[in-house]
Amino acid sequence: MDLKTFVIFLAFLCVCSWPAASVRLLTKSRWIVDEESGGRVKLACVNLVSHLESMLTEGLNRQPLKYIANTVFSQGFNCVRLTWATFMVTKPEYQSLTVTSSLMSLNLSSAVDGIRANNPEFLDLSLIEALKRVAMGLGEAGLMVILDNQVSKPQWCCALHDGNAFFGDEYFDPQAWLLGLTTVASAFINVSAVVGMSLRNELRGPRSNLTDWYTYMQAGAAAVHAANPDVLVILSGLNYDADLKFLAAKPVNLLGFGNKIVYELHWYSFTDGNAWEKGNANDLCGSVTARINDHMAFVVRNSSTFSASPLFVSEFGIDQRGVSVKDNKYINCFLAFAADGDFEWALWTLQGSYYLRNKQPGFEETYGIFNARWDGLRNPVFVAKLKPLQQPFQVPFSSSQEAWYQIIYHPASGLCVAVSKGDLKLDSCDGHGLFAFKASEEALGLSDDSQCIAAQGEGQAPVLSGICNNPNSAWQIVSTSKLQIAVNGSIAMLCLDGRSSPLLLTSKCICLMDSGCGNDEALEMQWFKVISTNRKYISNSTTT
Ligand SMILES: *[C@@H]1O[C@H](CO)[C@@H](O)[C@H](O)[C@H]1NC(C)=O
Ligand SMILES: *[C@@H]1O[C@H](CO)[C@@H](O)[C@H](O)[C@H]1NC(C)=O
Ligand SMILES: *[C@@H]1O[C@H](CO)[C@@H](O)[C@H](O)[C@H]1NC(C)=O
Ligand SMILES: *[C@@H]1O[C@H](CO)[C@@H](O)[C@H](O)[C@H]1NC(C)=O
Repeated sequence: MDLKTFVIFLAFLCVCSWPAASVRLLTKSRWIVDEESGGRVKLACVNLVSHLESMLTEGLNRQPLKYIANTVFSQGFNCVRLTWATFMVTKPEYQSLTVTSSLMSLNLSSAVDGIRANNPEFLDLSLIEALKRVAMGLGEAGLMVILDNQVSKPQWCCALHDGNAFFGDEYFDPQAWLLGLTTVASAFINVSAVVGMSLRNELRGPRSNLTDWYTYMQAGAAAVHAANPDVLVILSGLNYDADLKFLAAKPVNLLGFGNKIVYELHWYSFTDGNAWEKGNANDLCGSVTARINDHMAFVVRNSSTFSASPLFVSEFGIDQRGVSVKDNKYINCFLAFAADGDFEWALWTLQGSYYLRNKQPGFEETYGIFNARWDGLRNPVFVAKLKPLQQPFQVPFSSSQEAWYQIIYHPASGLCVAVSKGDLKLDSCDGHGLFAFKASEEALGLSDDSQCIAAQGEGQAPVLSGICNNPNSAWQIVSTSKLQIAVNGSIAMLCLDGRSSPLLLTSKCICLMDSGCGNDEALEMQWFKVISTNRKYISNSTTT
C-alpha cells in the first residue's frame, strides 16, 4: 500500500479504536490514548468472572476459550474486564491448586469433564497460569484485558459485611492486598493484552475511611506501577464505586505517573434501591444523572483543584431477560448518560452461568450476554443496542473545529435520527444523522443549514422543511430528564417519538408533569439525546 493509503489506514484504526491487543495505553486529560499513535482508544468492555470459589474463569467447561473470545470480539467489544481474587496468589493452600484440584475441592467433577472436553490444556495449570492463558487467549482474538481485583477471599462480591469490603476487614489485609497486586502485575508483565489493572472493586462498608483510602490506594497504584509500568492503574471510590466526590478537593498524589490513572464508576438500577420501580422515569433520570455527575463524572472535567481524568464505567447492566421493571427503566437513562459523556465502559457481564454460585452448580447469570449453555446470546437485541457506544463519539485533539456536529440518539432503540431519501427515520448511528442542533434558534436542522425538522401533527412523521422559523420547527428540550424534544403543537406539546422505529413520529409529550407517570415504557420511546461528536464517518453503511 502506498503512503497515502497507509496514512488513511492508520487514521481509520485510530478513529475506530480497535488497536492490536498489544498497545500501551496512557491517559491524556480525560482520554485514554495509544502511546504510539496518540489516537484515542475507547474501552468498550464486558466483564468476565474469575474470582468465585474456584478462582477459574467461568465458561471454560462450556466452550473453547477461542469461541468465547471470538464471540466477544465479533459483538463489537474491544476488551474484557477480567476479575481475580487476592488469595489466589497470597495463600499457599490456593497457590498450590491446579484447575482440576480447585474444581474437585468444590465437588465440581462435571465442570472438570466439561473442561476436558472444551479446554483440556487448562486441566493441570495452576490457577494463575490459567488466568494468564485466558488473558492471552482474549488477546489473540484482538481484545484488550483489564485485570480487576474483585475480592480478597474468593466469593461472590459485594456485601457490606462479607469481610472483603474495606482495608482492615476480616479477609482484607492491606499488606496481603499489596503483595497480591505486585504478584499479579509482575506475572502479567509479558501478557501484552493486559492494558490496565483496577486496584479494588467496590470499596464499601463500615470501615470506609478517607485517610485509609488515600494511604492504600496511592500505595496500591505505586506497587502496580513499580511491578508493571505498562498498565493503566484504575482506582475505585467509596460506597460501591459510586462516590469520588472527595477527590475534587484533594486529588491523589500521582507519584510521577499521573498519565496512567483512570477512575471507575459503577451504576446499576439497584444503586438507587427500588427507586426505579416506582418513580417517574423523567424525574429519576434527571436527579440520578445529576448526582452521578456531581459525585463521579466531574472527574472528566478540569477545575481549579482537579485535572480531568478518564472515567471507566466498569459495571452497569440489566437482567437481559427483560423481566426487571427497574432495570428496563434505568437502562435507557444510563445509555443516554454514557453516550453523552462518551465514557469508557464495561458491561456486567459475559458469563451465562457459573461453575458454582449460591451453592448451586451451573447457576444461571441472567445479566450475562451468553445464555446459560454459552452457545448463543441471551438477548441479541440488547447487545445490538450497545453498538453506538462501542465507538468513540469524540476524537480528542482534533484541529478542525468545523468537524463538530450533533447526532440525535434514541437509547430505547439504539438508533439515531437519520435522513434516508429525503425522509426522516431511525437508523444506525454511523454515517447518518447529520444534524446540527441550534439551541439559540430552537431549531433542529441539517448541518449544511439547508433544512430543518418540522412537526406535522400528532401521530405523524416529522418532515424536512426549508422553513426553519416556523413554530412547527421551534424545538426545545423539555422535561426533568432533559431527554424529550418538543414543539408547541396547536393543542399540546408534541415530542419526537421512536415507538414505531424505524419510523420517526411526533406524539403528545407524556409524563412532563405527573409525579406518577404510569407509562414509563411509552415515555422512554420519547427519550432522545443530542450528542456532540467530531467523529468522521467511518462506516460505509448503506442508506436504503
Ligand atoms: C464434597 O463431597 C464430600 C463427600 O460427599 C463432602 O464431604 C464435602 O463436604 C463436599 N465438599 C463441598 C465443598 O461441597
Ligand atoms: C518477559 O520477556 C522478556 C523479553 O522476552 C524477558 O527477558 C523476561 O524475562 C520476561 N519476563 C517474565 C516475567 O516472563
Ligand atoms: C481512619 O483510620 C485511621 C487509621 O487507619 C484512624 O486514625 C482514623 O481515626 C479513622 N478515621 C475515621 C473517620 O474513622
Ligand atoms: C484540562 O486542561 C488541560 C491543560 O490546560 C488541557 O490540555 C485539557 O485539554 C483540559 N481537559 C479538558 C477535558 O478540558
